[in-house]
Amino acid sequence: MKLLGQNREPLWKEEFSVFANDERYVSRRQFAKFLVLTSFGMLVGNVWLLLKSVFLRKEQYPRQAIATVADLAVGQSKTFSYPTADDRCVLIRTGERRYVAFSQKCTHLSCAVYYSRDENALVCPCHKGYFSAQDGSVLQGPPPRPLPRIVLEQVGDALIARGVQVNGGSQS
Ligand code: FES
Repeated sequence: MKLLGQNREPLWKEEFSVFANDERYVSRRQFAKFLVLTSFGMLVGNVWLLLKSVFLRKEQYPRQAIATVADLAVGQSKTFSYPTADDRCVLIRTGERRYVAFSQKCTHLSCAVYYSRDENALVCPCHKGYFSAQDGSVLQGPPPRPLPRIVLEQVGDALIARGVQVNGGSQS
């Protein structure tokens, strides 16, 4: 004789489905659907970021007159501040119609570089770092990167700074 309730399943089995393993099983179709939806979501996100960067691009740097062509003879230099008063830069007239400008902050330990006409280079006095006066590239010494270059534009007789180029990348 069996007692009432002796054949009943244990309580835990009643509360947890016996098909739990089947329910956890993810079919190939479900997995593919998940991948497609996730990829689509990422695609939409990336397209949104791309459109935002193209259409909502703000000019990060001001346009600022820094000199006139008559201010410098060939081989002369002049310091100025750009884009903020704390960012010292140097403008060099390297040719009759050629002007270049660079940040004065050395890419090694941030000492101020100066233009040496005799060596036709930008020199850092702290550890004898040398940069090309043509393109700001490192010629000698410990600096790891070229000097940031100031993007210039000539409007009439005025030289206008309108951006900063770091390591060849443009930020204007
Ligand atoms: S700080 Fe310019 S070379 Fe070291």
